[in-house]
Amino acid sequence: MSADQITITPSSPHVGAEIGNIDLTRPLSDEQRRDVHAAFLKYGVIFFRDQAISFEDQMRLAGYFGHVHIHVGGAGTASKPAEGFPAIRLQHFDASSKRISGEVWHSDQSCADIPPTGSILIQKVLPPDGGGDTLFASAYAAYDALSTQMKAFLDPLTAEHDGAKLFDKGTPTVYPQAVHPVVVTHPETGRKLLFVNAGFTTRIVELARDESDAVLNFLFAHIAKPHWQMRFRWRENSVAFWDNRCTQHFAIWDYWPNVRSGYRVQFEGEARPVR
Ligand code: SIN
Repeated sequence: MSADQITITPSSPHVGAEIGNIDLTRPLSDEQRRDVHAAFLKYGVIFFRDQAISFEDQMRLAGYFGHVHIHVGGAGTASKPAEGFPAIRLQHFDASSKRISGEVWHSDQSCADIPPTGSILIQKVLPPDGGGDTLFASAYAAYDALSTQMKAFLDPLTAEHDGAKLFDKGTPTVYPQAVHPVVVTHPETGRKLLFVNAGFTTRIVELARDESDAVLNFLFAHIAKPHWQMRFRWRENSVAFWDNRCTQHFAIWDYWPNVRSGYRVQFEGEARPVR
C-alpha cells in the first residue's frame, strides 16, 4: 500500500462510502485525485472525517474535479455566499431560521440547464444533542428496481424542473427552469437513473396534468424508499461530497432551535443531462 492510498468503507449496499487516509488540508497527489474521483463515481457520495479545511482547501478540492459553480438560486434560497468567497455558500441555521436548505428530496439545482455535477459540504457546528443528519439516495438503484414496463413508459418522457418550486419564498426573483429527460444516462458511468426530484420537478411535459401529478407522486415516493438510501451522521469537520447526477439528498431539520452551520461549494457540469 502506498502512503497515498486511500481507504474506502462503503456506507450501505447502494450509496455512500467513507474515505480514510487522506488529508484535505493539503494538495492531493495524482493517485489520490484519481482514487477519490473513482470512489465518487462508484458510490455517488463520499465522506471524509476530521478535515479542518479552509475555504481555499474546499475550493481546491472542488477545482480538481471541475470549475467551481456560482449558485443559481438567488435571493429566495436559505443559504448565503460566504464573505469574500462567492462560490462558497454559508449554510447556517439556528433559532431564528424559518427554513433550511434542502429539507426535501432533491439533487442540487436540477432547475439549471446544466446542473452542478458535484457538491462538497463541510459542517463546522452541529447540534449538541445530535440531529441534522442528511439522507442520500441512489437514483440508479431506484431506476433499476422499476419493472421493465415502467422503464419503457418513462424512457421517452421529459420533465420540467423549476427553481421557483424550491427557492421561491415570496421573493421577486426569476428562477431558472429546465426540461430534462425523466431517465438519464450518467455521462461517466453509462448507467441509467431516475432524474426527477420532489424539490424541483413540476410536471412531465408529455402527460396531462393529472397524469403527470400521479406519475411524479409515484416516482417521488419510490425514490424516497429506504431500500436505496443511507443516513449520514455528521461530526464537526465531516465533509460530504456528492454526485448530483445520480444521487438525491434530504437534509433533516430536527434540531431547531439549535445551530447547524457549514459551507458548501459546487463544481459545474459539462453538458445537459441526456437520455
Ligand atoms: C443541501 O441540500 O445542499 C443541504 C444538505 C445538508 O445540509 O445536509
